[in-house]
Amino acid sequence: MASGAGSNFEALVAACQRGHLAATVCQLVVNNPGCGAEQRALRLGVPCTIHDHRSYASREALDQALIASFQATDVDLVVMAGWMRIVTQGLIDAYPERLINIHPSLLPSFRGAKAIEQALAAGVRLSGCTAHLVSLEVDTGPILVQAAVPVLEADTVESLSARIHAQEHRILPLAVQLAAARLELI
Ligand code: GRF
Repeated sequence: MASGAGSNFEALVAACQRGHLAATVCQLVVNNPGCGAEQRALRLGVPCTIHDHRSYASREALDQALIASFQATDVDLVVMAGWMRIVTQGLIDAYPERLINIHPSLLPSFRGAKAIEQALAAGVRLSGCTAHLVSLEVDTGPILVQAAVPVLEADTVESLSARIHAQEHRILPLAVQLAAARLELI
């Protein structure tokens, strides 16, 4: 599941292709037509389905459509790889222990959409990223993997984002591997 650039989606595909993750990325769903993630899926040959949230009457209706897409390809695990929508209990219940999110902070610090801005404003000297199982409250749920990065004096949103992204691309495949192993899927 992706909404934006899709670099985490591509990192998962690459980890599978390199044999670092014993999985197959069988489909991508996006909510923003034409987003970078959709373009990457085209280039990588991963089937992509667009579920534009503006076409659904409610969050619940969108999530039910997502579940139908996932069931159509019989997926074992679902990854919110930069999914910028709040998910509902229906989706969480459809994939218990199987719905993973990646967030650009060391949770439980700096939840929400502007995590990197919040970290800079707070003046922390360490930040990072968290891959976790999804609970109903935004950016909460059991933590699978975290990575820390330094926050430098001269950092901007862009420079700190780049440092965190590099770590996200490393820990997200690890988190998928861990979640799958726990469920004895691999
Ligand atoms: C990442 O920073 C992720 O933590 C957050 O959204 C961003 C997505 O980046 N949830 P990308 O689209 O994978 O490049």
